[in-house]
Amino acid sequence: MSSNLGTTGAPARRRNPATPKPARHPAEAVRAELAACEAKLLSLLDSREALIAEVCHYLIDGAGKRLRPLFVLLVYRACGGTDRTLEDAIDTAVAIELIHSATLLHDDIIDGGTLRRGRPSALSRYGASLTLIAGDYLFCRAFELCGRFEESLVRTAAQACIQLTEGEVMEGRLRHNSAATVSEYLAIIRRKTASLFAAGARVAAHLAGADQSAIAAAEKLGDTVGIAFQMIDDLLDILGPEEKIGKPVGSDIRLGIPSLPVVLAAEKDAHFRHLFTNGGNPGEADLEKLLAAVRQPDLIAQVRAMAEREATRARQVTAGLAPSVYRDGLARLIDIQTNRKA
Ligand code: FPP
Ligand code: MG
Repeated sequence: MSSNLGTTGAPARRRNPATPKPARHPAEAVRAELAACEAKLLSLLDSREALIAEVCHYLIDGAGKRLRPLFVLLVYRACGGTDRTLEDAIDTAVAIELIHSATLLHDDIIDGGTLRRGRPSALSRYGASLTLIAGDYLFCRAFELCGRFEESLVRTAAQACIQLTEGEVMEGRLRHNSAATVSEYLAIIRRKTASLFAAGARVAAHLAGADQSAIAAAEKLGDTVGIAFQMIDDLLDILGPEEKIGKPVGSDIRLGIPSLPVVLAAEKDAHFRHLFTNGGNPGEADLEKLLAAVRQPDLIAQVRAMAEREATRARQVTAGLAPSVYRDGLARLIDIQTNRKA
């Protein structure tokens, strides 16, 4: 249908050519950078051993939201990063996605995860040994890429990886433990999820030439975005549906993981605590009861409110950045992640 009306029904307005078009999705602000990142990422998966390449491509090709690269590239540009050091920023974004992918492979081995990104996990398809090696391979590729950076940046990345391992082990230590507290929960997710966002943002801001306080602000932004992201991830794990989240609904409860809904429900309800810890492996009937308890509307609202508090902290950081489409993209990314349904 031809019309001179915009999608809202208002007459179309002429845009001042000097005004940059507002980005609809944050990815549009860094479309070219993301395309370069994707090409480099895929090129690094190839190996002299075809099976390694196959497992890596199986996990990464065409799958995954590329949220971390998007975030890193937006931070780089929002902090004033120019084309002069763009290649380093792209390598950072690629390295972060490689490390994230490595942790997913290893995480599925630890959890016996059978579904990932809506299809059989690499573990189901290739077995534990190949999945483990492929994870190691991706991890090494990341450090091959960024090992040339100055020492403090390599240390930032290494510290994030150390935190990832500690977060995973801390989570394992608190499995089936209904006494896990919100502060322990926050320590886990700060390590297992937010550390990579924070490190990526810190390196991106440094590469952009930001001063020390702006670098610290970027790190804070990564921390808060990562925490809000994981809180919503925990919520979606209990709400599903499987087709949208790409893994079985209720996986966290089945595995005894002290996710945010679990910790909040356990705080309130002695019967929940009993079922969650009892025998370490809930049957289907108990699982249904546990899921019903964490799906109470007030508990869902509490999780959303906690994620929103982190999002507000993140927005306060973006508000301190110079106005740009990249800053707007970061603000939009925070909104999308906090309100996402999958
Ligand atoms: C997925 O989260 C897992 C992580 C974010 C961290 C996993 C860390 C390791 C396996 C340590 C190894 C580290 C390196 C550097 C290779 P999730 O379990 O909440 O997400 P999911 O529900 O999608 O599995
Ligand atoms: Mg997992």
